[in-house]
Amino acid sequence: MTDLSVAKTMTADPRLDVEAIRRDFPILSQMINGKPLAYLDNAASSQKPLAVLDAMDRYYRTSHSNVHRGAHTLGDRATMAFEGARETVRGFLNAKNTREIVWTRGTTEAINLIAHGLAEHLQAGDEILVSHMEHHANIVPWQMLAERTGAKVVPVKVTPAGELDMESFDELLGDRTRILAISHVSNVLGTVNPVRDLIVRAKARNVITVIDGAQAVPHFQPDVQALACDFYVFSSHKLFGPTGIGVLYGREELLEKMPPYQGGGEMIERVSFERTTWNILPYKFEAGTPAIAEAVGLAAAIDYLGTIDRAAMEASEWALLERANSLVPSVPGMEVIGTAPGKVPVLSFKIEGLHPSDIGTLLDQQGIAIRTGNHCAMPLMDLYGVTGTARASFAFYNTLEEVERLFAGLQKIQRLFV
Ligand SMILES: Cc1ncc(COP(=O)(O)O)c(C=O)c1O
Repeated sequence: MTDLSVAKTMTADPRLDVEAIRRDFPILSQMINGKPLAYLDNAASSQKPLAVLDAMDRYYRTSHSNVHRGAHTLGDRATMAFEGARETVRGFLNAKNTREIVWTRGTTEAINLIAHGLAEHLQAGDEILVSHMEHHANIVPWQMLAERTGAKVVPVKVTPAGELDMESFDELLGDRTRILAISHVSNVLGTVNPVRDLIVRAKARNVITVIDGAQAVPHFQPDVQALACDFYVFSSHKLFGPTGIGVLYGREELLEKMPPYQGGGEMIERVSFERTTWNILPYKFEAGTPAIAEAVGLAAAIDYLGTIDRAAMEASEWALLERANSLVPSVPGMEVIGTAPGKVPVLSFKIEGLHPSDIGTLLDQQGIAIRTGNHCAMPLMDLYGVTGTARASFAFYNTLEEVERLFAGLQKIQRLFV
């Protein structure tokens, strides 16, 4: 494999050593279809640094056993690594204690768990406030809950620029609202929602707040105490960690009141045919053998991010987006969907005369990976009157040259096929 990482770097922010960072991500240094890979599909899943790969490898080579059994040394090592990872996540989110950190398979499972647990909180006619820009994972579990309870899912409008319509929010947040479930950052638009403000307004009405942080955590570090949300969820694989694991932060008082999600091992205190009792938090929600190596990998990803200058990372991502925006007029018929100020570097677009999936395929032939389709956000697609978009999403390891290659590729496709 040829190492192209050095040739490909054009530092977006001088404080960030992108060449060194790219060496930490071996997958980036390869050829795809005869061209250097430009990985611009980070919102779907980001790549993993060596620190993550090594931590998981080391765990399996030296410490693997089942956790919480305490029967032998490897069991103790695995438990220490697993619970140590939980503490790392607690620190990352600034949660009060590890009882508030529940492992899940990802954002989707975390939201399903919360929706399941809040059934008793709802009555017929109650309302669950979401928004038009939600991922299906933050719509469908609430629809399923609504079906079971007779509650209603109510979507807040989104403006043409892709911002949450605050007038619509204030109008819809009412006496029947029981739950507010909203994304911190939109996976299609890149919009950063004013969640702190929304939470304050919701709390004034005793509304439970659920924040979908799947697209926020790759770009900035949330503080759940400062946000004062009830729940905050995210997936490891978007935060440069492994797939198969995610995090549910829940306020202890609420988690205590919620019933378990699944039954089995680990989540029980005592089982008998007469009466079974639940384990303490957070284990009450963790039935079965957990994803141990994945927890270790996620903690390694968080530790790795801790070694990178956050301000430089954000500035670099901003510079990538700025460059992309400045190049949009160079592609005839290109229109960006989602132009909210302060957005994260996610660029959804359409090009007149071209189907998004053709754009994706033709860019792939040039080694450029983007996403096309509805991005699991069909209501938002309907709102913009499209069946899908093309989406380039950047991470701190991307370079200005990769942005330029994307646009050179788009210009070529537009020239040849429209
Ligand atoms: C905003 C948002 N929420 C939820 C999800 C679902 O995440 P997962 O598939 O990791 O459960 C995604 C994934 O793209 C997302 O972008």
